[in-house]
Amino acid sequence: MVQKKKSVLKNIYIGTEALSHCRNFLNQRTYQKYVILCDQNTQRLCLPLLLANCPVLREAEIIEIEAGESSKCLEVALQVWHGFLEQKAGKHSLLINLGGGVVSDLGGFCASVYKRGIDVINIPTSLLAMVDASVGSKTGIDFGGVKNSIGTYHEPKAVFIDPIFILTLPPREMKNGLAEAIKMALIADKTFWLAFNKPNTAIDDKFISRALTIKAKIVAKDPFDKGIRQSLNYGHSIGHALEALFAKRRNPLLHGEAIVMGMIIENHLAYQIKLLGKKECDLINAFLIHSFKPLPLSRKDAEACLSFLNHDKKNTANELKFSLLTGIGACKTQVSVGAGKITKALQYYCHTVK
Ligand SMILES: NC(=O)c1ccc[n+]([C@@H]2O[C@H](COP(=O)([O-])OP(=O)(O)OC[C@H]3O[C@@H](n4cnc5c(N)ncnc54)[C@H](O)[C@@H]3O)[C@@H](O)[C@H]2O)c1
Repeated sequence: MVQKKKSVLKNIYIGTEALSHCRNFLNQRTYQKYVILCDQNTQRLCLPLLLANCPVLREAEIIEIEAGESSKCLEVALQVWHGFLEQKAGKHSLLINLGGGVVSDLGGFCASVYKRGIDVINIPTSLLAMVDASVGSKTGIDFGGVKNSIGTYHEPKAVFIDPIFILTLPPREMKNGLAEAIKMALIADKTFWLAFNKPNTAIDDKFISRALTIKAKIVAKDPFDKGIRQSLNYGHSIGHALEALFAKRRNPLLHGEAIVMGMIIENHLAYQIKLLGKKECDLINAFLIHSFKPLPLSRKDAEACLSFLNHDKKNTANELKFSLLTGIGACKTQVSVGAGKITKALQYYCHTVK
């Protein structure tokens, strides 16, 4: 099934025919050069299928990066730009991002400024990128220890999502993607949340389409993150701080894992300031803890998290701003919360998650 009719998913093709649509897209256009960006896993596991479906890409140049968040940095961006130059990629080149959110964020960023912007298409291969990162035009790299501190908006010409790619995804990465999907449900769609509570919910094209539709609708209303789009940051203010904090450790957190921890802590914040009832806070957090088995935090971790928060781009002046739930399926943005309440929410996490 390919979703194309709903205007909110314009130029986004989801389902088993997505790669045929990609072939048509390529056949209908003339590009001076094709460059495929992938990481070592997607080169091995996903590139053969793409080339089999889109023969024109057999002449593409391949740039391979190391897998993982550590590649979303300036040094690797420099390598990508050098690669573009070495391959004589001109203004009328097409970059094909074949991979997870790291590939699409990094590739989108590199493409957005190379020759003042070259065309990009995204072919997401991780669940997280399928339900979230491949859509919405945000690109970026991590810099100075702060997640996504440098970035641009660069809309992909099209996104082709074939769920076949997730068949090779490790279970930990599947959960990573589910975290962002559940975030979509919690901020905007109570019935989608109920689907998570049913056993054996299929992670298929319908599921991906449902999560992505929530994101696409929000982005369509506020493409440049001035208002409602900030609801997508639910769980991310604390989550990004934790992700950055653990990045240099032996056991770095995956993005979705950090977001689950962030959602649990931010739900307690919402409860403290009476935005979210205790019953709902407990219900959501019990579900998240049971389903995702988030990492326990020590008191030292909690303190370090607080100091990281001061660097978060969502904070202005001395205020800490959050996007918080007001119920299941509803979210309020730009909520100011004082450091004392954040400390309390972190303590709650330390006591509750063992
Ligand atoms: N731009 C946005 O709107 C947006 C939204 C959400 C998240 N993000 C970003 O996305 C990134 C996380 O994305 P991610 O979780 O996809 O990370 P990722 O790109 O590192 O992919 C996760 C892992 O899965 C592997 N992988 C990908 N596809 C595979 C496949 N089909 N089979 C086997 N292995 C496969 C990758 O090689 C990698 O090891 C973070 O940097 C986050 O900030 C961006």
